[in-house]
Amino acid sequence: MPKVPCAEARRRFTRLGPDDADRYADHLLRLPDEDRRLRFFDETPEFLIQLHAGAASADGRIVAICEDEGFIRAAGELLPDPERPEVGELAFSVEKDCQRQGIGGALMRELIEAGARAGFERLELELLPENKSMLSLAQRFAERMETRGGHLFAVIPVPRDGATP
Ligand SMILES: CC(C)(COP(=O)(O)OP(=O)(O)OC[C@H]1O[C@@H](n2cnc3c(N)ncnc32)[C@H](O)[C@@H]1OP(=O)(O)O)[C@@H](O)C(=O)NCCC(=O)NCCS
Repeated sequence: MPKVPCAEARRRFTRLGPDDADRYADHLLRLPDEDRRLRFFDETPEFLIQLHAGAASADGRIVAICEDEGFIRAAGELLPDPERPEVGELAFSVEKDCQRQGIGGALMRELIEAGARAGFERLELELLPENKSMLSLAQRFAERMETRGGHLFAVIPVPRDGATP
């Protein structure tokens, strides 16, 4: 565990690199069980988290991160939907003691701008209906919410002029 809480003055926003798989896995493993379930929609054992972090750092997806003293404390991923490459899928994770400080919103803005530069037509974010904090964050950016298979999907436009709310 990081010894110090997430401090605004030390925060640094950057991108996940090819050597960051272990640090990214450590971040995802620090999420409490419930937050990990909200992030991955299921109980997710440690080996799957390690596999996920390895893939995320190596397969070319865009991963915006927030670091504090070398620890990754929050991340947002953007990767193409395999069946609709014009659509970018988003997912977020912010450690408990860093939540409600605007970090999720900052990562969202960063990824919308990155998605525009990458040429996505729109972005989508899947969330469980009980995920009130993600819903609140998504609604600030979404043009509409859809329900599919019991999950919510926020459909987020990619502005052509680069401006995000
Ligand atoms: C969802 C999550 C990414 C939000 O990150 P965050 O850094 O706390 O987000 P922000 O501080 O930018 O706040 C976003 C909004 O959520 C609201 N919010 C945060 N926690 C909340 C809570 N427990 N209940 C209700 N609203 C909440 C904030 O007030 C803010 O809304 P506002 O801008 O309308 O005031 C974070 O809680 C998280 O990682 N949760 C676990 C994983 C997860 O659910 N991922 C999403 C599915 S991919």
